Amino acid sequence: MSLTLGIETSCDETSVAVVEDGRRVLANLIHSQVDVHKEFGGVVPELAARDHLERLPSLLERALDTAAVRPADVDLLAVTRGPGLVGCLLVGVGVAEGLAAAWNKPITGVNHLWGHVYAAMLARPDLEPPLLGLVVSGAHSDLVRMPRHGRFEVIGRTRDDAAGEAFDKAARMLGLGFPGGPALDRLARKGDPRRRPLPKPSLAGLEYSFSGLKTALLYRLRDLGEGMTEEDRADLAAAFEQSVVESLLEKLDRALDETPVGEVVVAGGVAANTLLRKRAAEVVGDRARLTMPPLELCTDNAAMIAAAGAYAAVRATDVDPSLGWE
Ligand code: KG4
Ligand code: ZN
Repeated sequence: MSLTLGIETSCDETSVAVVEDGRRVLANLIHSQVDVHKEFGGVVPELAARDHLERLPSLLERALDTAAVRPADVDLLAVTRGPGLVGCLLVGVGVAEGLAAAWNKPITGVNHLWGHVYAAMLARPDLEPPLLGLVVSGAHSDLVRMPRHGRFEVIGRTRDDAAGEAFDKAARMLGLGFPGGPALDRLARKGDPRRRPLPKPSLAGLEYSFSGLKTALLYRLRDLGEGMTEEDRADLAAAFEQSVVESLLEKLDRALDETPVGEVVVAGGVAANTLLRKRAAEVVGDRARLTMPPLELCTDNAAMIAAAGAYAAVRATDVDPSLGWE
């Protein structure tokens, strides 16, 4: 049995987790900074970094308590080294390196995007590569092939906005609060996507683009102007959500056709979306086994970082805010 202590501070969630054998969550404590950033309508990097530093000590203590683990029992420290906000990453890596030195333990730097895929292995401990992954977060909409542990090949990505970013911007246009994605999801449940349809973006190959859809929503809102009813708002939220979700799944469907594989993972913050969860299951059908992590493992958390760290070949902890899948 091996215990990994994970630390995640790449954006606006502070999280500390303890994971056994890279697969079983013993503790996964998450502190969301929503209240810190709400009044600004988005994440303020300096405030985020400071809050991570304030929250980490107590989260660490509670995570060890919850898992009933002492520092001496920990075999490995795993910390997010990128991609993310540089000041936020520095806090996590600094604290993790301090602990590794004080406890005399090995430490590994983890790619946050890999973490999102490994979240699926916490949900299903028997899941093994090869797999096809759709990772949809605030900054990424990537289709990846994972032939084996520690290896990812990007086969599709977005040309402009990420899906989460598109949801957040659309939510702001619709007058919903921060964070926008979950609010838009809730409003869309009350609407009918057919009443005020929006175009479904469709580029050739496996590429995504969401900026045109955003502009289409802007024009639709402008046309409606003052006369917009609550029903219109809900219908537009539903139409926007449907266009994003169908576009994401169209490419997943194509990738699965082109290179059949037995396992499919849909993960990242946007994988918490109600319609995406429902439609992904229908689109994948019986061609492959689909795993979508439960909601708390879709959005940012340290358990997924510990899980990836337990398998990662990369041992460096150098912060790299613009890290890709490499
Ligand atoms: O993976 P994540 O927690 O953080 C990043 O690594 O970026 O993803 C955050 C993104 C945000 O854009 C948020 O609005 C979106 O995930 N999101 C959702 C939902 N829950 C979170 N988007 C649509 N529907 C949701 N239910
Ligand atoms: Zn993330």
